[in-house]
Amino acid sequence: MTPTPTTVPADSHERGSVDLAHCDEGALLGILDEVERRHGFIPRDVSDQLARLIEMRLEKIRRIQGKLDSTLRRDVLRHVDAWRGEEGNLIMILHAIQNEYGYVPREAAMELSRELGVKLARIYEVLTFYHYFKLQPPGNHTVVVCNGTACYLKGAADLIHEVQSRLGVGEGETTQDREFHFDVVRCIGCCGMSPAVVVDGKTHGRVKSSDISGLLDAAKKTGGRA
Ligand code: FES
Repeated sequence: MTPTPTTVPADSHERGSVDLAHCDEGALLGILDEVERRHGFIPRDVSDQLARLIEMRLEKIRRIQGKLDSTLRRDVLRHVDAWRGEEGNLIMILHAIQNEYGYVPREAAMELSRELGVKLARIYEVLTFYHYFKLQPPGNHTVVVCNGTACYLKGAADLIHEVQSRLGVGEGETTQDREFHFDVVRCIGCCGMSPAVVVDGKTHGRVKSSDISGLLDAAKKTGGRA
């Protein structure tokens, strides 16, 4: 069934009716602000039309969510079946999930809790105990600054500060656009070339603060994670 166009006549005397169905969220907010400014309130017919429009969009999102959920459920079940009945299987399944997604999505942890009969709180105890596990999607690129003793003595703190101020994130965080994830670690075994920075798996030695922006720019020019 073709939905009836959802229009708002608020400023029709100037620009004609606006088909709300073709407006993105930013445009909708702008129109609502305009309507409110002109009328001092949002008229009932406009709010009813918007409510219908929102419900239609939510329905589409729910359908997409349903498809994603079933894919995730199938992935979790595959890993559970591979390790079912094995001692210590929880951690092995969490590893498998993280290897597959790059992190452990909350929905996967909830599915795992149901399948294994393990409390969700217990799963999060394990996830937060081991530094290896990530609870957020990783960045497209990874920047790691070594802060082991040798690197610390050669100025790792300056490098950490430079990366943090350029990316606007703290240790263990990912930029909002998900381009970069930043980590600090203790000794990566390259003390002879300290201070060391690893960008997307490639180690750079004797790094200076002034090198950081070039390293980040170079990383951006590559594709990063598939
Ligand atoms: S302390 Fe940084 S590589 Fe060893």
